[in-house]
Amino acid sequence: MLVGVAKETAAGERRVALVPDAVGRLAGSGVDVAVEKSAGAEASFADDAYEREGARIADTVLPDADVVCKVQAPSEEEISRLRSGSTLIAFLQPLVNAELVRALAERGVTSFSMDSIPRITRAQPMDALSSQSTVAGYKGALLAATHLGKFFPMLTTAAGTIAPAKVLVLGAGVAGLQAIATARRLGAVVSAFDVRPVVKEQVESLGATFLELDVEGAEGVGGYAVALSEDQHAREQELIARHAQESDAVITTALIPGRPAPLLVTDEAVQGMRSGSVIVDLAAEAGGNCAATEPGKTVVRNGVIVIGELNLPSTMPVHASQMYSRNVLSLLSHLISNGELVLDFEDEITRETCVTHDGRVLKE
Ligand code: NAI
Repeated sequence: MLVGVAKETAAGERRVALVPDAVGRLAGSGVDVAVEKSAGAEASFADDAYEREGARIADTVLPDADVVCKVQAPSEEEISRLRSGSTLIAFLQPLVNAELVRALAERGVTSFSMDSIPRITRAQPMDALSSQSTVAGYKGALLAATHLGKFFPMLTTAAGTIAPAKVLVLGAGVAGLQAIATARRLGAVVSAFDVRPVVKEQVESLGATFLELDVEGAEGVGGYAVALSEDQHAREQELIARHAQESDAVITTALIPGRPAPLLVTDEAVQGMRSGSVIVDLAAEAGGNCAATEPGKTVVRNGVIVIGELNLPSTMPVHASQMYSRNVLSLLSHLISNGELVLDFEDEITRETCVTHDGRVLKE
C-alpha cells in the first residue's frame, strides 16, 4: 500500500499533513510512502529529511497513492486526479461542503474528515480540531499582545509603574483556554466567559476570573455548546459590552458546530471600547464573534483594532504540522491492519469520520 503526502495548494497554507517522523513510523510498519516534492518546505521539513525516513520524493502523488494525506480539502482539479478506489484524509468540513463531498463520492474516493473525529477518549490522539485550536489560541493571544500599544505584564521600573493589560476571552473551549494560558504567561490580568458553566473551574485553574453573567447554555453531543435562546443571547451581548469597555484586548473564540459563529461583540460594544484596544476574532472563519470583524483583514473601528486573520495554525506551520501529523498518523494506525486499510464501520471512529465510501455520501 502506498501512502502519499500531497503538497498543499490552497493560498496561504503552509502546513503539511505528515512530517518526516510520522513517515518514518509508517515506513517502519511496512507501508510505502511517497511525498510530493517540497511538500514540507513551507513548514521547514526538507525533502531529504523525508528521504532519510524512508520516503520517496515524487513530482505528484495523485493518482498513484492508495491513501492521500492532506491538510486542506482538495481543489476540483485535485479531485479529478484522485484515483477511484483511493482514500483521502483531510479537513473536509462535510457539514458545510456538500458539493465537495458529492464530488468525492462521484469520483469513487473513500474520504475521512479530520474535523469529524468523535470526541471520545480513545480518539483524543486523532483530534485535529483540538490540536489546531491549541495553535490558534496561542497565536491569538500573541496577536493581541503585538497589536496592543501597551505591555501585557505589570512592570515596576525607574520610569514608573505600568499596570498589567486586561484581557477578556470569550469562549473557553480548547482555543480559549490556550489563549487564557498564553495571556496569563505574558502577565495580563485575564477574565473569561463561556456559556458552558463546566469550564469555570478550568478557567480559574489557569489563574483567570470566570465572569458570572447569569447566562447559561446547554452542552450538546461531544461537549459542544448549543445555541442560546434569543433572550439569553441579547443579555449576554449586553453584559459583554460592559466588560469589553474595561478591557485592553478581547479574544473571541465562540463556535457552535454547523452554525455561523454567535455574535458576541456588537457594534455598540466596539464603540464603547477605548481607542487602541484590540479585538482578535478567532471565529472569523465562521463569520466572526464581533460585528466589526472582516474575515481575513485587520480593520480599525473607532480606534479599536479588529483582527480577523484566517487560518492562524498555518502561521505556525512547524508545530501545527507536527501536531496534525500525529493526529493523521493515529487515524492511519487505527485504519491499517497488516499493511492494508481495513474499514470496520461497526467502529465509532471509522463510522463517524468516514464521509464518502463506495460512491456514496455518508455524511453531509
Ligand atoms: P468550539 O470550538 O466548538 O467552541 C469554542 C467555545 O465556544 C466552546 O467552549 C463553547 O462552549 C463556546 N461558546 C459557544 N457559544 C458561546 C457563546 N454564545 N458565548 C460564549 N461562549 C460560547 O469548542 P471546542 O473548543 O472545540 O471544544 C469544546 C469542548 O469540547 C471542550 O472544552 C471540551 O470540554 C470538549 N472536548 C472534548 C474532547 C474529548 O473528549 N476528546 C476533545 C476536545 C474537546
